[in-house]
Amino acid sequence: MTQLGRAGSARGEIVLRQRPDGHLELRANGVFVMDTLEHTSERALATEALRHAGARPLRVLVGGLGLGFTLAAALADDRVTRCTVVEIEPALVGWLRNGTVPHGPAMLADPRVEVVVDDVADVLRSVAASSYDLVLLDVDNGPGYLVHDANAALYAGSGLADARAALADDGMLVVWSASPAPDLEAALREVFGNAEENRYAVPGHGRAGDYFLYSARR
Ligand SMILES: C[S@@+](CC[C@H](N)C(=O)[O-])C[C@H]1O[C@@H](n2cnc3c(N)ncnc32)[C@H](O)[C@@H]1O
Repeated sequence: MTQLGRAGSARGEIVLRQRPDGHLELRANGVFVMDTLEHTSERALATEALRHAGARPLRVLVGGLGLGFTLAAALADDRVTRCTVVEIEPALVGWLRNGTVPHGPAMLADPRVEVVVDDVADVLRSVAASSYDLVLLDVDNGPGYLVHDANAALYAGSGLADARAALADDGMLVVWSASPAPDLEAALREVFGNAEENRYAVPGHGRAGDYFLYSARR
């Protein structure tokens, strides 16, 4: 393992390292967060939401930059006119900006990208109503396996209500999860009046298994 970056914050420590297989891996407080080996479902978080979005110009909020696969998938769609990516760890944004993560600089230089270093819960609470057409959340390994305990509020009533208020009419919230999240689906139904679970089988290398996307439409 080669350590490429290490930084402390109020939440603990994040580490970016290169594995012997050449892939990059991000860990927060020792917990696996993301790697460059397998990113099917992280890309699907954006592409599935975009598939249901219609022909209009789209303003997208991505919660959790990670290694940028969800953001890249959103930017690959010409309908996306603005993509705000909210990341809580300033060091990680730095590693993508300065090329420590090689695909980072070109992606963040896209003029449609706005990077906000903040807690996405705070951003969703404070933005003007109807600011986004899509809100894509992947800040944990799912509501059942939090990277930061404080993120629990995002998946409960008030956090989901903030996300709903941030969406324009017909806008969509999609949440990534590494495991089934029936409580989230129920909470979405309560706040939005609708919810859908989609399961993805991830190829059998690296983190093999099923991943889940939970969506709700305003
Ligand atoms: C699983 S990774 C995201 C992976 C990303 N979808 C991708 O394609 O690479 C989660 C990211 O969310 C960030 N994060 C965690 N809690 C957050 C919060 N409350 N607000 C904003 N970012 C957060 C983490 O620092 C990490 O970069």
